[in-house]
Amino acid sequence: MNLDEMLCTLGEAEMRDALAPFWDEAQRDCPPAAYAARFLTPEAIAESWRTGRFFTPDPPAELPGMARRIRGTPALLALAAYAHWRLFEGPRKPGQAGWPTLESFLGEDAGLFYLVVALGFIPSIQAYHRRLGLPSSVMEGTGLQIARYCDNYRRGRGRLGIYINQMSWLACYMPPSLYFRIGRFEYRKYLFCYPVRVFRRHSDHTTVTLAMNDLHFTPEGDHCLTDMPEPEGSWRPVFEVTEQATRGTPITPWGRAVRQVVELPHDEWECVLKPGDPILDMHIPSGGQMTPEAAESSMREAYHFFNTHFPKPHVRAIASYSWIFSNQIEECLPPEANLAQLQRRLHLLPCASQANSGLWFVFLQDGGFDPATARRDTSLQRAILDYLSRTGRPWQVNTMFVLGEDLEHLEAGIYRRQWPPSGLGLEAAPSQERL
Ligand SMILES: CC(C)(COP(=O)(O)OP(=O)(O)OC[C@H]1O[C@@H](n2cnc3c(N)ncnc32)[C@H](O)[C@@H]1OP(=O)(O)O)[C@@H](O)C(=O)NCCC(=O)NCCS
Repeated sequence: MNLDEMLCTLGEAEMRDALAPFWDEAQRDCPPAAYAARFLTPEAIAESWRTGRFFTPDPPAELPGMARRIRGTPALLALAAYAHWRLFEGPRKPGQAGWPTLESFLGEDAGLFYLVVALGFIPSIQAYHRRLGLPSSVMEGTGLQIARYCDNYRRGRGRLGIYINQMSWLACYMPPSLYFRIGRFEYRKYLFCYPVRVFRRHSDHTTVTLAMNDLHFTPEGDHCLTDMPEPEGSWRPVFEVTEQATRGTPITPWGRAVRQVVELPHDEWECVLKPGDPILDMHIPSGGQMTPEAAESSMREAYHFFNTHFPKPHVRAIASYSWIFSNQIEECLPPEANLAQLQRRLHLLPCASQANSGLWFVFLQDGGFDPATARRDTSLQRAILDYLSRTGRPWQVNTMFVLGEDLEHLEAGIYRRQWPPSGLGLEAAPSQERL
């Protein structure tokens, strides 16, 4: 079907620029009739639903009902085939710049339309993982993501569907990415991209992280929020490499920069992680129950898995950027909370973040985070809202890393216990009482 005809029927003319670059190629490579025969039959829907382990053993009637409606509506079918191809079969770069909301044509059923499309993720992942020769447990774990997205929608909207803003991420799991769920978390082979260098002392394995010049710090040593004016007293780090040593601004394991310069002689300290090094980029699917045991065993298993199945290049560390690793978590949740326990095991880093970034995953608000209308249903939501109103500070995101060789020692809080490192003239961090 012609793009303009489809847009006109669905009332989505303003989406033309987003869909035009790949429309004709998608219709040719993934003809709507062939797509319908493979992915929209009641059998195909039921098979994906069962494999994806949703909240009921069989799909609720609305789902095959929507698949039937798509099959019987040429404009919807053309869009569904386009979305399937764009996410799971065609070139993934550049990513899709937005999706039609379908509000005028489908109203509240728009999320259901996208859930039907998203079910195509499951056979696509199966085929890709088979080609890679991966164990079936990895495919089964990775395929759970659609059910988790579906949980979000049920929690936020109280009905069956998927949020449109979660669709584009599904392309990240497809070839040539190596992106799998292993245990509690998902990981993709990636390059470390945070402007810091991590050093380790030969004599006692102490870890020191130095900030590189393009970071901007608040007086407290957090990264300045990128969408707010820099506060008075903000400062830049020092970073230089001389013939004898690397000199620079250290970052505590709590993820705050210290306004001092330390000198790490080359013959005593080795750089063990720097921008461009291969790492595992970790992502956290929803679903709670992120116990420290589940977290640690997932990280250990993933590190071993990638370095065994995809050993070149060898990954040296795991890193993750998330609201979950904000260094405000420990000021907000009790020490026994899963997220607080996990943080004590990791090394945090300051990083660029907008105010209240990432809180969508907790409050699922359309149109950005608004504390006035945010839900207070769960203890996590209440704790975050109370923290924000008590301190008047916006939420900020941090990054975390762990080095592969430390994965067996996380429970002991290896990074915090080594702080402050001896011989560098650094003091205990203000938050050090919370080891
Ligand atoms: C991060 C996360 C896994 C934390 O799990 P956890 O701390 O182990 O959660 P628990 O199972 O211990 O639950 C603790 C409380 O948080 C609530 N909770 C769990 N996930 C939640 C979520 N996504 N949104 C809001 N509240 C949540 C639970 O209902 C529970 O509240 P209760 O005490 O009122 O019953 C969880 O917040 C989550 O699933 N988040 C969505 C995914 C996400 O944010 N990914 C990162 C994207 S950058």
